[in-house]
Amino acid sequence: MGNITVTINGTEISVPDPMTILEAATQNNIDIPTLCHQPDLTPNGVCRICVVEVEGARTLVAACHTPLTDGMVIHTRSPKVLSVRKTIVELLLTAHTGTCVNDVNAANCALHKLASDLEVGEPRFHVQKPRFYAPEESNPYVTRDLSKCILCFKCVKACDEIAGKGVLSVGYRGFESKIITGCDDALTHDICKDCIVCADACPTGALSRPDLLDKKQKGAV
Ligand code: SF4
Ligand code: SF4
Ligand code: FES
Repeated sequence: MGNITVTINGTEISVPDPMTILEAATQNNIDIPTLCHQPDLTPNGVCRICVVEVEGARTLVAACHTPLTDGMVIHTRSPKVLSVRKTIVELLLTAHTGTCVNDVNAANCALHKLASDLEVGEPRFHVQKPRFYAPEESNPYVTRDLSKCILCFKCVKACDEIAGKGVLSVGYRGFESKIITGCDDALTHDICKDCIVCADACPTGALSRPDLLDKKQKGAV
């Protein structure tokens, strides 16, 4: 393992090889937004919000799983990058139904924070059949409100790779895809006791800790 030299936003830096674009950017205090990525989980590259421009590449690349190569020249906030990120946020907001703007959870929602940072307003797109699921509070340890789910799959990976429980999976297909337990059963498992790994990983308010919700509703946090 040696060092390679890359240029990010006009600044030449030396970084250890191997390393991803996101890791190098983070190490050098350059912010690249992420939604489906978490450093202690294997990358799944589904949300594409971390796209950056690499000179010579035909398309934008996802920073979270693209390895650096010597001499790479990267732009993390070019007009093209910002325009694509805005469109991604708009598309995610279109499918992200519910009333979370007025919700106690919105302040903790990475998608809403991104929309605000990128100045994304009301989405231009409309879905014919919005995904709507009634919030579930049957589990005393995790509250589910899957209308807010952006299908980033972090919870599934976190439950597998960090909690080692394998309770969550992706059910159905295409637009009907949904994070489920078992055969789309209610999440009532005692296995979730003292865990909350999935709620901590969730970038939106789709999974949350009932204890924190209670405190927020009472204005304690
Ligand atoms: S609380 Fe833990 S065990 Fe239950 S679904 Fe979430 S990560 Fe899996
Ligand atoms: S519930 Fe949360 S962590 Fe899981 S896929 Fe949906 S948004 Fe991602
Ligand atoms: S954060 Fe890189 S694809 Fe989601």
